[in-house]
Amino acid sequence: MAKNLIAYYSRSGSNYKGGNIVDLPEGNTQVVAEKIRTLTGGGLFRIEPVKPYPADYHETVELAKEELGKNARPELTDTVKDFADYDVIYLGYPIWWGVMPMPVLTFLESYDFSGKTIAPFCTHEGSGLGMSERYIRQSCPDARVLPGLAIQGEKRDQADREIGNWLKKQGLAA
Ligand SMILES: Cc1cc2nc3c(=O)[nH]c(=O)nc-3n(C[C@H](O)[C@H](O)[C@H](O)COP(=O)(O)O)c2cc1C
Repeated sequence: MAKNLIAYYSRSGSNYKGGNIVDLPEGNTQVVAEKIRTLTGGGLFRIEPVKPYPADYHETVELAKEELGKNARPELTDTVKDFADYDVIYLGYPIWWGVMPMPVLTFLESYDFSGKTIAPFCTHEGSGLGMSERYIRQSCPDARVLPGLAIQGEKRDQADREIGNWLKKQGLAA
């Protein structure tokens, strides 16, 4: 049986919901990651930069723009143990400025993905997956990268059916 890893970055703190800034103790991508885990099983791994992003939404937006401009690779707090044992890596992230947050690229460049399957999923507020799938293919040319799943952040709690359908379509669930 394939061994799954669900690796994700998600930012808790202030975020937009229904046009207002609200405090979300659990980030949108985290909620989707947990739903995927319920359906597929496997290990959860949280991608976390050593220097956390500001709790303030606007400060994060500015910092993210700067990091994208610099093509930064923020250092991560932790590594996946026995990475070689995993077959399918579900890779989750919010869309920031049309791509994934830079720590997700640090993660992708930290391991050997050859022969592995990457199933990307994101949450967003309108961009869909943006350019993120292209970034994954560039970072991991020897991996099989499946078509990704994009869930609008505000609809995270109603996403179960969409997640289930995507898993089935990719041959990842019965
Ligand atoms: C720094 C930053 C940049 C963002 N840029 C985009 C964007 O380009 N396109 C988009 O649709 N949503 C954008 N968003 C919205 C997030 O993708 C969305 O709220 C997502 O669900 C957040 O996930 P999280 O709670 O797991 O961090 C941005 C949010 C932040 C904080």
